[in-house]
Amino acid sequence: MGYKIKNICCIGAGYVGGPTMSVFASFCPDIKFTVVDINSFKIDAWNEKDLSKLPVFEPGLDKLIKKCRSKNLFFSIDVEKIISESDLIFLSVNTPTKDKGLGAGKASDLKWIEESARQISKYAQGHTIVVEKSTVPVKTAHTIEEILKYEKKVNSSEEKSFSVLSNPEFLSEGNAIKDLTNPDRVLIGGTDEKAIDCLAGIYLNWVKSERIIRTNIWSSELSKLASNAFLAQRVSSINSISAICERTEADIRQVSMAIGMDKRIGSKFLNTGPGFGGSCFQKDIANLIYLCEFYNLEQVAKYWQGVLDINNWQKTRIVNLIVNKLFGNLSSKKIVILGFAFKANTNDTRNSSSIEICQGLLEEGAKLSIFDPKVDAEKISLYLGSQEKIHSKRTKGSWTFCHSISEAASGSDAILVLTEWNEFKNIDWPNISKSMRKPSWLFDTRLCIDEKEVIKTGLNYWGIGRSPN
Ligand code: NAD
Ligand code: UGA
Repeated sequence: MGYKIKNICCIGAGYVGGPTMSVFASFCPDIKFTVVDINSFKIDAWNEKDLSKLPVFEPGLDKLIKKCRSKNLFFSIDVEKIISESDLIFLSVNTPTKDKGLGAGKASDLKWIEESARQISKYAQGHTIVVEKSTVPVKTAHTIEEILKYEKKVNSSEEKSFSVLSNPEFLSEGNAIKDLTNPDRVLIGGTDEKAIDCLAGIYLNWVKSERIIRTNIWSSELSKLASNAFLAQRVSSINSISAICERTEADIRQVSMAIGMDKRIGSKFLNTGPGFGGSCFQKDIANLIYLCEFYNLEQVAKYWQGVLDINNWQKTRIVNLIVNKLFGNLSSKKIVILGFAFKANTNDTRNSSSIEICQGLLEEGAKLSIFDPKVDAEKISLYLGSQEKIHSKRTKGSWTFCHSISEAASGSDAILVLTEWNEFKNIDWPNISKSMRKPSWLFDTRLCIDEKEVIKTGLNYWGIGRSPN
């Protein structure tokens, strides 16, 4: 007999937990889903009546919340009670890079995974399927099993048992609802066939069976790290080629198209840019490197380190290039930053390339005017310090937040496009150019601006991976 699944809990109401459970709830009306978090502000925001105030911005998410919330989708801080009522629990907590101690800067900090496992072991009742959705180092399922086993022993009067599965999430932000609704694959790793059937059965409500892959648990954990490493490696590869284009009069758009038309390579993930950002690529590759070093695979570790090195170099070379184009001096120059999110269609700024590029420009003394359609001043100040505050006594750089592109551009020396938001594609260049101090520049690190329109207005143009005009 299989396990009956009536109540599902997701621990962690972040960028994965919220959207994932919203999609699950919309396809499984007979199951009750509750997303829990220790952060009560986040839970309040998920319960907000005004759907524009949800903590995560994702196209299509508001519609799903409207459809399911308070019907079969709930958000709660009552972690213990919800765990005790659940037949299946997803772990969707954060797994950032450790910043102190053994493995600092590389290893994953599993504090939140361990804490959740302890809560589950204490409060779960009957048989509970525990599913790793967070991205974790290989062998984490073993740690979880150890914690669950131990609690079972000390409380021998209670009858409880657990099955641990790995079911990594592959959604990409800004596209999360589409990715979750129509996934390329669903990966389930584990040994308890009944539990795997149960989880696969839930997905079968909307995913074709041939897309649901079953593997051993360690392959599942490793496949997630490896997938992100492969994607990031493509971005570093194309970014490395962008630098050669700039020296050789080759055009990265043409090169990228030519490479991508080879079916063995494929055209996706070949857009050059200011370096990959986001909460995962950097940390997951660092985690992979740590694993390689742990298993004495120095050559493999070095290979993946190269992907991170190119990514950091891309950001530095953009800052240096801007300084050089602006006569080697940014002191008191006004530079407009268009985009602070790590990619378009998300309000997420974690590890955004904009952070390091802005810090580099501030270090040179620039006055930054920052505009992003979905990121507010408060969030930016977490990375750059408070507005108008002098960044460094030596160079006196500072930043302000602007509510529109035209407000930001007035009197500026340069505009730097860092996120490919759709609204940046339709800028009124004649008017913007008129309001800038000459000679002025447009630096496009996403190749999302119409170069001809810009040049017509008398602005100097630099596009990444393009030869200088
Ligand atoms: P997040 O920081 O947005 O959300 C994690 C949430 O977990 C936080 O709100 C935190 O308060 C909560 N939490 C931590 N410990 C808790 C506990 N003991 N009880 C209850 N709540 C707790 O993180 P995220 O972006 O949603 O990522 C979660 C995991 O999914 C990570 O491992 C990440 O690598 C992976 N992942 C992320 C993405 C993405 O696009 N963001 C995609 C695929 C996989
Ligand atoms: C990425 C993966 O695409 C997801 O499959 C994975 O689930 C997720 O990480 C995760 O584990 O967190 P995400 O970081 O949301 O998703 O966004 P991506 O679209 O992968 O973009 C990552 C970064 O690479 C962004 O800064 C983006 O601008 C950059 N990028 C992407 C490029 O510069 N060029 C490209 O061609 C593609």
